[in-house]
Amino acid sequence: MEKYYITTPIYYPSANPHIGHTYCTVNTDALARYKRMTGHEVFFLTGTDEHGQKIERYAEKAGCAPQEYADRITDGFKKLWELMDVSNDGFIRTTDKHHMECVQKVFKKLYEQGDIYKSEYEGHYCTQCEAFWTETQLKEAGGVCPDCGRKTELAKEEAYFLRVSKYAPRLIEYIRENPDFIQPVSRANEMLNNFLLPGCEDLCVTRSTFKWGVPVPFDERHVIYVWVDALVNYLSAIGYLTDDDSLYRKFWPADVHIVGKEIIRFHTIIWPIMLMALGLPLPKKIYGHGWLLFDGDKMSKSKGNVVDPFVLVERYGVDAVRYFLLSEFPFGNDGNFDNATLITRINSDLANDLGNLLSRTVAMIGKYFEGKVPENTAPVPEEDEPVVSNAKTLFTRMDKAMDEIHPHIALSEIWKLIAICNKYIDVTAPWVLAKDEAKKARLGTVLYNLAEALRIIAIAVQPFMPNTSPKMFAQLGVKDEALRTWESVKEFGLIPAGTVVTKGEAIFPRIDAKAEMEFLDNMIAEQRKKAAAMKAAEEGTPAPAEHAPAEEKKDDKPLITYDDFAKLDLRVAKVIDCTEVKKSNHLYNLTVELGNEKRTVLSGIRDWVSPSELIGKNVVIVYNLAPRKMCGIESQGMILCASTPGDADVVPLTTMKEIGSGNLIR
Ligand code: ME8
Repeated sequence: MEKYYITTPIYYPSANPHIGHTYCTVNTDALARYKRMTGHEVFFLTGTDEHGQKIERYAEKAGCAPQEYADRITDGFKKLWELMDVSNDGFIRTTDKHHMECVQKVFKKLYEQGDIYKSEYEGHYCTQCEAFWTETQLKEAGGVCPDCGRKTELAKEEAYFLRVSKYAPRLIEYIRENPDFIQPVSRANEMLNNFLLPGCEDLCVTRSTFKWGVPVPFDERHVIYVWVDALVNYLSAIGYLTDDDSLYRKFWPADVHIVGKEIIRFHTIIWPIMLMALGLPLPKKIYGHGWLLFDGDKMSKSKGNVVDPFVLVERYGVDAVRYFLLSEFPFGNDGNFDNATLITRINSDLANDLGNLLSRTVAMIGKYFEGKVPENTAPVPEEDEPVVSNAKTLFTRMDKAMDEIHPHIALSEIWKLIAICNKYIDVTAPWVLAKDEAKKARLGTVLYNLAEALRIIAIAVQPFMPNTSPKMFAQLGVKDEALRTWESVKEFGLIPAGTVVTKGEAIFPRIDAKAEMEFLDNMIAEQRKKAAAMKAAEEGTPAPAEHAPAEEKKDDKPLITYDDFAKLDLRVAKVIDCTEVKKSNHLYNLTVELGNEKRTVLSGIRDWVSPSELIGKNVVIVYNLAPRKMCGIESQGMILCASTPGDADVVPLTTMKEIGSGNLIR
């Protein structure tokens, strides 16, 4: 049996899991389930990454020990994966004893062979991302962490270094020779061009300014850098360097590490170099998926726009939430989560397309054939062919999509078959056939084909919606295990005539779209309010006023002439730097470029946009606005933004295409 080792990132237990973590884990689960179903021996690993300064600080804030804090949040992750029917074979915690021992052994081995050495570190550290940045990287990002846009801290300390520079040329060659290693391909180019080809410095792999980590085994003043600690999880979880390393011997190298795009750098540079130094084979593939945004904005607890998967599952059920996460967002790209699309997809794809197809088919078999699947004796090839040929070949298209790590495409292939079946009902009109006794055999064939296509659909959806398959089989009366296997989707016509169908409850009841929209929108609005109040409390400023309802807001202004409008000088400006104004809780100090001219513009948009989202973007500024001093700094213009009622969301305007800064807006 072919083996398949697949992993998710191990998540920081810094705050409760949200829909973004769920998105990654559920996609990985679908891939793991698919491989199991198609005859592979699978090891699917997930877990939590519990060390590092970030967790230490969160714990301190919560008034408890780091381990206690990590235990509590890790418990929440485990509960969520159980709820989401995630079929992981292992759950690794970096605080597990066997993991910590493995990290120490790896570190010692690399030190003894000279690939880790002691020196002095001086540079910038981002606690949030647990990442070191060089002067150049920081400068290019405008003085903030290139990943998250937050301020970094200066750190100078004695430290140990990994000889990245020694292995980088080999890695460059490897990436070039193995185009499948980093996926999607665009991410491979990014790693080569932005990180590897400009030259890699050796990496600082220890810290001595905090304690919450794995101690360097021969120098306990240092703890091992959290990323080195974390990456080793993929080996420690399968028993590498332990007495029983049978899983390691069976499953390494991993077939694919699924990770978010922001951590692909660690997985495609540091991790392969560590493995090369250890003399181990590299994982076959690293797949960097995109982010789920909420209404176009990055989800963040401080913005209050984090979607809680527990609430969604409670209201719509596990499989509906899984379906939405798996089908709506092309896995390699960023996707926008919005409540309206969630509700529409549940009602149209699940309740209408799939749910109705099943209930109509079962009901018609009940009504016209006493609940027994009829014989297939009266084919009309031109009518039947679309259903039969699509159902028979579905597996080839699904195989291709899943091999390419495109669960959303595999699902869309299933839904194409569902659409073909629904069209088949319209074209053949069984209720018309039923009126004519002479057409009974034809009616039987139509219903047979529908029942058989539904059997195939029930198998195909299993990796994506594991609870839906058994419900479909129960209604279709498919009890024989042999008719539920992946092998059996390759043949059309296996469901035996005479199989007794049973009408059951709707597998996906329709939901009240208006009421649900109201519920979900209110929930986010409440979260945003709470987040704003918490932020204000932390900063010691008054809580923001309640948002005025949209109807009460008078936005209309008196008419103006063109001459009035022409008084405005609006121009395209490129943001080249963005820092927080220290004396203010809301203002950014932006340096913008207008052709050859540079200006300072202050803007109160800190609650809604991060510096990294602004830097490098074109914005629209009012160029001839009289300068105004705020917090001792003169602002030479104003940035235009779109805003929702009560400023629940504020989004800077930008140009649709690159046009060059300084150009006029008319
Ligand atoms: O980076 N959309 O942990 P982490 C999609 N501990 N995916 C999202 C997401 C979003 N909005 N938010 C989070 C770490 N994710 C390290 C990993 S691995 C050796 C160490 C997912 O808790 C996505 O997969 O910050 C991302 O890479 C991961 O959660 C980051 O989780």
